[in-house]
Amino acid sequence: MKEELQDLRENYQKGTLELAEVADQPLDQFKAWFSAYKKTEPKDANAFILATASSEGRVSSRVLLLKGVDKGGFEFYTNYQSHKGQQMAENAWVSLTFFWPELEQQIRVEGKVGKMTEEESEAYFKSRPLGSQIGAWVSPQSTEIASREELEKRQKHYKEKFGNEVPRPPHWGGYRVMPERVEFWQGRPSRLHDRIQYIKKGEQWETVRLAP
Ligand SMILES: Cc1cc2nc3c(=O)[nH]c(=O)nc-3n(C[C@H](O)[C@H](O)[C@H](O)COP(=O)(O)O)c2cc1C
Repeated sequence: MKEELQDLRENYQKGTLELAEVADQPLDQFKAWFSAYKKTEPKDANAFILATASSEGRVSSRVLLLKGVDKGGFEFYTNYQSHKGQQMAENAWVSLTFFWPELEQQIRVEGKVGKMTEEESEAYFKSRPLGSQIGAWVSPQSTEIASREELEKRQKHYKEKFGNEVPRPPHWGGYRVMPERVEFWQGRPSRLHDRIQYIKKGEQWETVRLAP
């Protein structure tokens, strides 16, 4: 195993990143990189890793799907009572990591998270397929369950209860992460990668180059 891992080596050479060429706002830079990434037709193009921490600093991370870049932040949807939901209620600082190997890019975001408005969550919930809407009721996300059958029973129950008009569960909705630091990483040969970091200073963004 060790050898197998140690022999894996990429020499990154698909692009470059210069301070002079990045957008003034990190969300604009994100949008530009995302549209180039999407053209490579990756699976789950909007997947990212969300790291959260408890008030004591115990960290946990998982993959989620990005559903919007709007109103100055990064948006995703989940169960407010889940493990991540509990950690975000205790500690609003989170980080998002995007890894796009097709373009040899990484984007890291640090910021504070807040719940989206009821209206925003409602609008997105309505746009989801019926099966996913039912799923939000079925799964007490991150709690222990006795069996898969229990989930299937709950699914049947909620399908019969709601039919084609599924209301949004009060424990399900959106979050928006307002970035304070955003780093764009472009792989370069011999590990001399390009790293440009945006840092929020008041209402302005400053950009700096970081050592790889
Ligand atoms: C590709 C992929 C996309 C996912 N998207 C979401 C999502 O958008 N929302 C969500 O709640 N969980 C999503 N999950 C499941 C989470 O990774 C995680 O298992 C779940 O949210 C429970 O996390 P928690 O116990 O830390 O709260 C996704 C998993 C994968 C692998």
